[in-house]
Amino acid sequence: MSKVSWKGSALLAPVPPALVSCGTLEQPNILTVAWTGIVCTHPPMTYISVRPERFSYRIIAESGEFVINLPTASMAKTVDFCGMKTGAKLNKAQHCHLELLPGEQVAAPIIASCPVSLECRVTEQKALGTHTMFLAEIVGVQVEERLLDSKGKLDLRQAGLLAYAHGEYFALGRKCGDFGYSVRRKKK
Ligand SMILES: Cc1cc2nc3c(=O)[nH]c(=O)nc-3n(C[C@H](O)[C@H](O)[C@H](O)COP(=O)(O)O)c2cc1C
Repeated sequence: MSKVSWKGSALLAPVPPALVSCGTLEQPNILTVAWTGIVCTHPPMTYISVRPERFSYRIIAESGEFVINLPTASMAKTVDFCGMKTGAKLNKAQHCHLELLPGEQVAAPIIASCPVSLECRVTEQKALGTHTMFLAEIVGVQVEERLLDSKGKLDLRQAGLLAYAHGEYFALGRKCGDFGYSVRRKKK
């Protein structure tokens, strides 16, 4: 198989194009963030990398709080819009008809139509170059109740989450395995 060599670039895909909410229920802002991920299980830690010129940057730096909301494929247009327009001149939640609910652990609101919301408190800030990374502890998780099965287990297959890969949005495809299935013994 022949390959082409490129210089280093930010080509990790797919990633979640998260709707990050910040500020307060009364004065909210939302921006789209694709540079995010999990960095530790216990304590549960995440990061978002935000350019200092974003309107949200100062809000997050000053409040030390934000919420990572995972959007559905049906929200793709809203996700793109919140990543194109600045909240400096527009209330994006109102414009996009997004219902906001209070966070339980942070002052930043959660987005009702997103099936999963991670409430985050910043622990460290690191300027990396174009982006500054906010390292944060996930201090609370809000999940849509309809996604829980009879045993209370989360079934994300029903969530219809949105993915982002190299400038394009995708609906998640079919399931092709689960954690540990390659080594699991079949039940007799
Ligand atoms: C799919 C997508 C992913 C994005 N990811 C990031 C990101 O990881 N970090 C960032 O600073 N901006 C990112 N942006 C751009 C911001 O969301 C955009 O500049 C937004 O308008 C900032 O809003 P604000 O000025 O209200 O904070 C992304 C935009 C899109 C469409």
